[in-house]
Amino acid sequence: MSRFKGYVYIYTIGCQMNVYDSEKFFSILHLIGYEKTEILDNADIIICNTCSIREKAQEKAFSFLGTIADKKKKNPKLISIMAGCVAQQEGANVFKRIPKLDIVVGTCALKRIGKHIKAIQLGKRRITDIKEEKEIFETMPDNLNINNKKVSKFVTIMQGCNNFCTYCIVPFVRGREKSRNPENILKEIRNLGSNGVKEVTLLGQNVNSYGKKEGITSFSELLGKISEIDSIKRIRFATSHPRDLSDDLIFAIKNIDKVCNHLHLPVQSGSDKILKKMNRGYTKEIYLEKIEKLRTQCPEIALSSDIIVGFPFEIKHDFNETVELIKQVEFDSIFAFAYSGRPGTKALKFSNQINEQEKKERLNELLKIQDLFTKKKNQALVGKIQSVLVEGKSLRKRNTPEPEKQILPQMTGRTESGKIVHFYGENIKAGDILNIKIKNAYPHSLWGGIC
Ligand code: 5AD
Ligand code: SF4
Repeated sequence: MSRFKGYVYIYTIGCQMNVYDSEKFFSILHLIGYEKTEILDNADIIICNTCSIREKAQEKAFSFLGTIADKKKKNPKLISIMAGCVAQQEGANVFKRIPKLDIVVGTCALKRIGKHIKAIQLGKRRITDIKEEKEIFETMPDNLNINNKKVSKFVTIMQGCNNFCTYCIVPFVRGREKSRNPENILKEIRNLGSNGVKEVTLLGQNVNSYGKKEGITSFSELLGKISEIDSIKRIRFATSHPRDLSDDLIFAIKNIDKVCNHLHLPVQSGSDKILKKMNRGYTKEIYLEKIEKLRTQCPEIALSSDIIVGFPFEIKHDFNETVELIKQVEFDSIFAFAYSGRPGTKALKFSNQINEQEKKERLNELLKIQDLFTKKKNQALVGKIQSVLVEGKSLRKRNTPEPEKQILPQMTGRTESGKIVHFYGENIKAGDILNIKIKNAYPHSLWGGIC
């Protein structure tokens, strides 16, 4: 490693893909002499890795970077960078709102970050790099698990999207769909495995179409190959598009032991009218058929979903159909959002936009109903034994059951279905996989004891 040059502070907003990219930023900067800091005032470089999926996420980035001018007064050598999806979307326009910013790097410019930083240090001002690349950045530094010894890691296997759902900004900020070379993915995962990682979550906007365009390994084959890596004990993935969920994938979930018994399958709406306007390519009936098939093949499977409420043209009747659908499916959990109009997307130009107050009310109503099902699903696990991957010590301290055991360390981990479990345990370390009997269920976690 090069001589110590300073500290980098990385603020990550948005999805798991951004978390992965932020780690890559750090790996690259570490190789040229930077260490990570969690204290903003200590930073010599600040990177804000942004998300533009909803306006709120975008504004979070601008308000964070808005404080830069003050920080530069204290440290004139401070280098500030906007990265990620808002950077890709806005390009040099960002400098109008954040004049003191130094660098705007889009979603394909990761590998050039070191070069841009050097140019700023040599006196260059305001660099914008939002060039789209046909290939994904593959030369992964070998130091991905440094500084951050986690047992579970994200691995982006594809980028971009070709679906053009009418609400979605992703195709505009992450480009067209492109898959990584399977050999590079396997090499990266082997490397993570030999650095203590036990679980990987494979990321892509639509993992089911992995490798299709390139004519390389299919997604199910990739799952098979990853499962042969001994050190990796669990494999997760997100996201699957309901239209492309194949029998092959259902077969892989059922038959590859290491593939977790959980599927995130975003439905977005329960109204066929709205699904059509969203350009989702399936109907409520098709979605429900897929769920039935899944549950027939994998009866214990945990299901989660994304839902957008208040999409243009959504009248109360459409919303009620969404409510009916979540009652029918009984998801383990959902992520629900109020529709947010995004620049360049088709839906932004639709008439019949829904007012913000109505969106908020529908969102609250939906979340309240889902809470009942989340609780019900958690409750159903009481008395059952779950395999739990230990993530580390738990921060949960107050009001624990079994107060007589409070002298023991409290640990936390996740079930195969992704639910958080807290328990008492001595001589337990992150990465252990234990059988835990579930004793109590809470709205967002479980409590158990080692068997
Ligand atoms: N407004 C609200 N929610 C959105 N999502 C994507 N675009 C928008 C938008 N414009 C949600 C979808 C997607 C999840 C990642 O974010 O539900 O599945
Ligand atoms: Fe992730 Fe999409 Fe947000 Fe970009 S816009 S960070 S791809 S959720």
